[in-house]
Amino acid sequence: MTDRLSRIARGWDQAADGYVAYFVPRFAPWVAAAVEALETLPDGPILVPCCGTFPEAELLLERFPGRELAGIDLSAGMVERARERLGQRVTVVQGDANILDARWSRACAAVVSAFGLQQLPEPEAAIRSWTDALRPGGRLSVVYWPENTEDDGPFAAVAKAIGERSDYSWEDRLLDGLDAVVERDEFVAYPMTHPDAATYFDTSNHGGSMRALALARGDDYIAQLRQRYLEQAPAGEWTHHPRARLIVVRKPPSRAAAAPPTS
Ligand SMILES: C[S@@+](CC[C@H](N)C(=O)[O-])C[C@H]1O[C@@H](n2cnc3c(N)ncnc32)[C@H](O)[C@@H]1O
Repeated sequence: MTDRLSRIARGWDQAADGYVAYFVPRFAPWVAAAVEALETLPDGPILVPCCGTFPEAELLLERFPGRELAGIDLSAGMVERARERLGQRVTVVQGDANILDARWSRACAAVVSAFGLQQLPEPEAAIRSWTDALRPGGRLSVVYWPENTEDDGPFAAVAKAIGERSDYSWEDRLLDGLDAVVERDEFVAYPMTHPDAATYFDTSNHGGSMRALALARGDDYIAQLRQRYLEQAPAGEWTHHPRARLIVVRKPPSRAAAAPPTS
């Protein structure tokens, strides 16, 4: 595992409890949108890369009763909590979901992933690998945080305080040459409320994706970042409307299934 990947894994191990308490309920509308976007599916299992504690599971089981569900996550802490929460109802594997192992090739009725893609080392390769995992007629539904989630709000304020741009050029190329029909590619926004600016920052640091940054740069860096962020933040409760990108693609049905009956 690369240093970056092991830091991300460690970050999510440390963040898991805080993430479940604070972010899972706030991110729930987008997770529901990703699941609702799956229409009819062929037979077969549903795979959830970057499942975390697997909040997708209950929604998927309700929508597609009796389906086999499998999740993959890099963080041992997340995997342990998902297994504790869901027991025998799902299989959860610890591993890197960037390139799926060959056993998933053309095996799945659907692949669903929420808020993992933007953290992967190679998002373009990941989306290809996830599409390759689909059976004919199967659907991939992915929701992720793009580079530009909002013009103002705490996500934008943290990005401004960091002041460095990560490379998001992959976003423009994400769907190029994909072996599937793009059914949806849109931004989906919902309101999200934080008790105040400091609570959002501190929870991101201890219970969110900022944990990996803290491990990389240290507590002094995070303390200075917090100060720069709070200088531009409003007082009191903070509601914003961040946009996530929702992509749904469908693998073409097999020719035999698509052909009209002959008699
Ligand atoms: C923001 S959480 C989302 C979890 C869950 N889908 C949800 O909506 O609550 C992102 C998850 O992606 C996982 N992750 C990050 N990089 C990964 C990788 N390369 N392979 C598998 N999982 C990864 C993290 O461990 C974390 O659990």
